[in-house]
Amino acid sequence: MIAIVLGTRPEIIKMSPVVRECQKRKLDHLVLHTGQHYSYAMDRVFFEELELPDPAFKLDVGSGAHGEQTGKMLTGIEKVLTKQRPDIVLVQGDTNTVLAGALAASKLGVRVGHVEAGLRCYDRSMPEEINRVLADHLSQLLFVPTNVARQHLAKEGITKGVYKTGNTIVDAVRQNLDLAERKSNVLHRLGLEDDDYLVATAHRQENVDDPKRLKGVIEGLQRVSDELKMTLVLPTHPRTRKRIEEFGLRSDGILLTEPLGYLDFLILEANSRLILTDSGGVQEEACILHVPCVTMRESTERPETIAVKANLLAGTNPKVISEMARRQMRVRTRWRNPFGDGRAAERIVARCASKRKRPG
Ligand code: UD1
Ligand code: UDP
Repeated sequence: MIAIVLGTRPEIIKMSPVVRECQKRKLDHLVLHTGQHYSYAMDRVFFEELELPDPAFKLDVGSGAHGEQTGKMLTGIEKVLTKQRPDIVLVQGDTNTVLAGALAASKLGVRVGHVEAGLRCYDRSMPEEINRVLADHLSQLLFVPTNVARQHLAKEGITKGVYKTGNTIVDAVRQNLDLAERKSNVLHRLGLEDDDYLVATAHRQENVDDPKRLKGVIEGLQRVSDELKMTLVLPTHPRTRKRIEEFGLRSDGILLTEPLGYLDFLILEANSRLILTDSGGVQEEACILHVPCVTMRESTERPETIAVKANLLAGTNPKVISEMARRQMRVRTRWRNPFGDGRAAERIVARCASKRKRPG
């Protein structure tokens, strides 16, 4: 049996093709949701839109300090795995849920498969970097999206059990874009016109929990919107919303919305002139959708996007954000998508199926 452990928005989206593939092959599998994300707009909406079955197990861990949150997950995941005895635990990405899933499984002697293995930004001040390094070193199956990721692992001595599959985000985009085009009326709802607006997201701990950096991000976005004379939409992560209020920051000139469902967000991205973000998944989607991107961080674990000129790093200085935005507005958008052919889930599940223990 394959146990899929997930808990946050990007994991639900990026694991959805894996769940679908398990269903298609009629493979014995279960989904365990840690409850790291729990607000409707960060969690339930994706199960509904992506037509995913309810998780078989829900831990309802909720928010908390890193140790507290990860510790609760560890306890809960261990209980489920001890009872269910899966052959493989699959985790995706770099969240606390991933670390807890990989650690609980490996201590029980259950094989761990890490989807999106081998990403590195080489900044250990980011909680995500710690999580992804540890998850990789706990895994027996490492599903890398690209050769760059494979090389990162090789540098750390991990060469066995590494399989290049592409990133399941390509599968997710392809599986949902047509549906999104048919179903979403987000442009109409927000009063936007194709190619005449900008989209931004920001939620990284190091950006939004630091008043100076968050102020830089907001001022940068205001500046870009002003200079390019385009509406800028910021679907706002709950962490960011909370901090904007707490720090008393003014967001005049920016169109703040609730976090959007996947179908609306895909349409918003696909039709925008430029995307500004600190999100990992959004950097990838911008690249896949051929929309130029500016990343409001000092480093990225998605250097493939920079290499094809789909993305530029800007940090959080407003002047630099606006300079990079102007540059990216001029870029030719016919780059090659480095993240695969949309069949990553097929490869991942096929490999897991071939590695399951035979009965008896
Ligand atoms: C987490 C991941 C991050 C990932 C992001 C995806 C870690 C360390 N961080 O960050 O890598 O990019 O998810 O979005 O695992 N909140 C709500 N409702 C929710 C979830 C969170 O209101 O459903 C608020 C709470 O105030 C909470 C805060 O957001 O304290 C942060 O949530 P948390 O899960 O700790 O981290 P994220 O910033 O979401
Ligand atoms: N996303 C969404 N609605 C939004 C913002 C983002 O559906 O309002 C999706 C986006 O399309 C991408 C994923 O959420 O697939 C990225 O998640 P997030 O930025 O929260 O986390 P990260 O990828 O940085 O870990």
